[in-house]
Amino acid sequence: MPLWKTSKMIHQGAEATVFSGHWMGDKAILKKRNRRSYRHPDLDRRLTRQRLSVEVRVLTKLHSTEIPSPSLFDVDIDEGWIILSEVEGVTLYESLLNGKSDNEQIKKFGGLIRQLHELGISHGDLTTHNVIIRGDEDLTLIDFGLSKISPEIEHLGLDLQVLHECLNASHYEENDAIESMIEGYLSHSSDDFTPSGADVIDRFNSIRGRVRYHA
Ligand SMILES: Nc1ncnc2c1ncn2[C@@H]1O[C@H](COP(=O)(O)OP(=O)(O)O)[C@@H](O)[C@H]1O
Ligand SMILES: [Mg+2]
Repeated sequence: MPLWKTSKMIHQGAEATVFSGHWMGDKAILKKRNRRSYRHPDLDRRLTRQRLSVEVRVLTKLHSTEIPSPSLFDVDIDEGWIILSEVEGVTLYESLLNGKSDNEQIKKFGGLIRQLHELGISHGDLTTHNVIIRGDEDLTLIDFGLSKISPEIEHLGLDLQVLHECLNASHYEENDAIESMIEGYLSHSSDDFTPSGADVIDRFNSIRGRVRYHA
């Protein structure tokens, strides 16, 4: 990787290994897709390329909006890595666990999700690990490898369901968290965007009902 200097590994996930370091002197993050040996190599390569290219497309799209996102420094789709500017702060996950964040930030998160949806993008993996909070104000979304451009309403509802499950599993001590998320989502909904905020919440509620019924 030209122009890249590793400082340390910060995350070893199922799909990717993430390092912090510097790119041309700027604090940066290197995310390398892991090879999954249980997948056929061709399929594995195709999935890696697909996820990286959607991540690049979404980051590029976000860059011309007011939605905060990391800058794209470099990428090699075939080699399976991407270098982004480092967003300084802690994940919303950590911030909720150590009591620095509460429903106020979850409400803001709801608003940010709606802004993303109104750009015609679903996130695909909306857990509290994929949003970074700086101070107690700025929320920055990351990790767009499972995003969809021009999603169907089902994908928008699923974004909210993934977050709902994350809040229930990891942040159950935050009372009314999901209500705060919905409040933020609806308060950032503009009237002329289809599907409306209320329609997405309806879809989320029916997904919730489906999941409960089958559980
Ligand atoms: N641009 C960034 N700035 C700061 N931290 C980041 C950045 N990108 C990723 N991270 C950290 O690395 C973790 C994993 O990165 P992520 O893009 O979510 O990959 P994965 O697909 O493995 O979840 C994040 O939860 C976050 O803690
Ligand atoms: Mg992630």
